[in-house]
Amino acid sequence: MKGNFPVTALENIETPFYYYNIPLLRETLGVVTHEAGKYNYHVHYAVKANANSRILSVICENGIGADCVSGGEIKAALKAGFSADKIVYAGVGKSDWEIDLGLDTDIFCFNVESIPELNVINERASIKNKIAPVALRLNPNVDAHTHHYITTGLNENKFGINLIHLEGVLDHLSGLKNVKLVGLHFHIGSQITDMDAFKSLCVRINEIQETLYRRHIIVDIINVGGGLGVDYENPDRQPIPEFKSYFEVFYRHLKLRPKQQLHFELGRSLVCQCGSLMTKVLYVKEGVNKKFVIVDAGMTDLIRPALYQAYHKIENLSSEGPVREYDVVGPICESSDCFGKCVSLNETKRGDLIALRSAGAYGEIMASRYNCRELPKVRYSDDI
Ligand code: LLP
Repeated sequence: MKGNFPVTALENIETPFYYYNIPLLRETLGVVTHEAGKYNYHVHYAVKANANSRILSVICENGIGADCVSGGEIKAALKAGFSADKIVYAGVGKSDWEIDLGLDTDIFCFNVESIPELNVINERASIKNKIAPVALRLNPNVDAHTHHYITTGLNENKFGINLIHLEGVLDHLSGLKNVKLVGLHFHIGSQITDMDAFKSLCVRINEIQETLYRRHIIVDIINVGGGLGVDYENPDRQPIPEFKSYFEVFYRHLKLRPKQQLHFELGRSLVCQCGSLMTKVLYVKEGVNKKFVIVDAGMTDLIRPALYQAYHKIENLSSEGPVREYDVVGPICESSDCFGKCVSLNETKRGDLIALRSAGAYGEIMASRYNCRELPKVRYSDDI
């Protein structure tokens, strides 16, 4: 064992592969449902973070709902056992077949982002003689202070309905017969560790609720999206995110009307720390004033470092040798195929098993076949 890893068993498995610690996932789900349960809050899992079927079914067993952003995700959630009345469907560009799938399976709610989309949902629902439950995704213009690629709640982003258009959308909606307004939806970004960003969101929602109240509108559901960040630096010290303080922020600062439900769409915080990408060292290569560790996983298996300059802790599980500095790179023909520069690792040699930690969210699901590579394989702690 090194850390929580059964190293000898893992060393015999063909790399690269994602390794999921299922007991840690269950423990994380236990904490989130306990903390949310204190306030009767509803948690939906953002399937986009990881749609691995085993992970989905463990999440589903814990009574959590599913937040889907495509017809494919709705199908994956249904297949894993999520009941349709716990599925929310969001996304800025829904195709007609995807809307039809949501209507045919009677999902809980469509999160809608524009008037043209409302019109199409209304039209498809009227053909099927149904009333589609909708929540309006509003762009709260709150800065989440996170990486600009994963901030979503600012005026300049493509997501949601701008607050200046809200009155017009409500007027329009009241003329549509086959959609029913059930909620308001927000999401300000991802990997947010500063709780003040969520506090600002609450303050903005309170203002919006006042505006709606003046029109005698009280929706059943407020959905505040996801975004709670994890500690990438300390996957062992902080394997479970701070759900307690997160939910407390909403309890303290969000003014819900009587009977109004509060919904969350958490992705990363539920699955990130239970996953690691396992890879083996192909070569240790001398560079100019540095050494490269070339591993058999690349940006095709885990794109986050190349795409967002994201940090994933790197550990050599096979070595107890003295610590040295290396640039850890993959085999792909792109300079951005680099997992870390000047990484401190125990002295490393060909064949060593390397773990890229905190890779359970936006890892396996974002893998590609660039360079005609195979998609990464998967192993679960309880099968080893
Ligand atoms: N709800 C909505 C509307 C979203 O757009 C997202 C994530 C979530 C919920 C879940 O957010 P989470 O709790 O996971 O932060 N690929 C990027 C992250 C993209 C997040 C997209 N939206 C990454 O690897 O960091």
